[in-house]
Amino acid sequence: MIQRIKELQKLVEEFSPVNIAEIEEFRLKFLSKKGLITELFNDFRTLNPEEKKIVGVEINKLKQFTTDKLNELKSSLVVSDNSEVELDLSRPGDSFKLGTRHPISIVRNEIISIFTRLGFVVGDGAEIEDDDHNFSKLNFPDDHPARDMQDTFFISSDMNVLLRTHTSSVQAHEMSELKPPIRSLAPGRVYRNEAISARAHCLFHQIEGLYVDKNVSFADLKQTLDYFAKEMFGEKTKIRLRPSYFPFTEPSAEVDVSCTLCGGKGCNVCKETGWLEILGCGMVDPNVFETAGIDPNVYSGFAFGMGIERITMLKYGIKDLRLFFENDLRFLEQFNTAY
Ligand code: PHE
Repeated sequence: MIQRIKELQKLVEEFSPVNIAEIEEFRLKFLSKKGLITELFNDFRTLNPEEKKIVGVEINKLKQFTTDKLNELKSSLVVSDNSEVELDLSRPGDSFKLGTRHPISIVRNEIISIFTRLGFVVGDGAEIEDDDHNFSKLNFPDDHPARDMQDTFFISSDMNVLLRTHTSSVQAHEMSELKPPIRSLAPGRVYRNEAISARAHCLFHQIEGLYVDKNVSFADLKQTLDYFAKEMFGEKTKIRLRPSYFPFTEPSAEVDVSCTLCGGKGCNVCKETGWLEILGCGMVDPNVFETAGIDPNVYSGFAFGMGIERITMLKYGIKDLRLFFENDLRFLEQFNTAY
């Protein structure tokens, strides 16, 4: 009998009528006094009490399922004047699920919003650059390793056209094309010829900041970055600057924030140091000013650049960079924010 119940269940499941008449026909065949399900109830009487316990539940389930399905089918169809069946056009439509923003966009927008509060404006630059703006105007010596094939994707065989390796190319443009004061931000994609791993990718995102005016000092840079770190990672966040080298800034520094997980006590995220590196920065090198036609005796400025993936990984505790590029919905749907 269980077998028979299963067969009927399958028939009900597969039933897809095109009009009300078919639904009525089906109802008669299954649920009327002589219907197939009613017949099951007759056979049921002949079973012993043990069997009745099991089979009874199943028959009732089948009957309920069939009744529900027929009711549902009926309510989704209406009969028009000429008794042709059509869809109920007054039924509300199924709602669409809203998408979510990509975590890189969320964090990029957040970074932009922090710096625009300090008066920075967003600028734009091309991803395909010339050697001049990616390297020469930024004071890279001719034999600098960053120009090497291992790092840079060259597009032209004379190695003059390339995919920008950093958003600093935008500051090279702005300094030669705009007049100070300049206070700009340049977010965008950058490319480096690196093997793809959990910590590196051949394509990633940076955001560059540039401030040029009279009397801009290193203290201004520090204050700006301190404000950024506190807004981004929380009030208690501290920053520390370590001397570093970039061809286009002098002095240059790398900036760490107190560990976003342990707050500076030491844990496995910060490798027990209490600090996490987030960006590079420095005072614009006078050579860069001169090449751009800005008088370094009148103007000074600072620049900073950070990887958006890195900030996002720290903010959300993401361990593998590749997740950003795989477009796995199970990952992306976790970032449900209106930002
Ligand atoms: N362009 C540098 C990099 O890609 C970052 C940087 C930007 C450093 C501006 C100093 C000033 O690593």
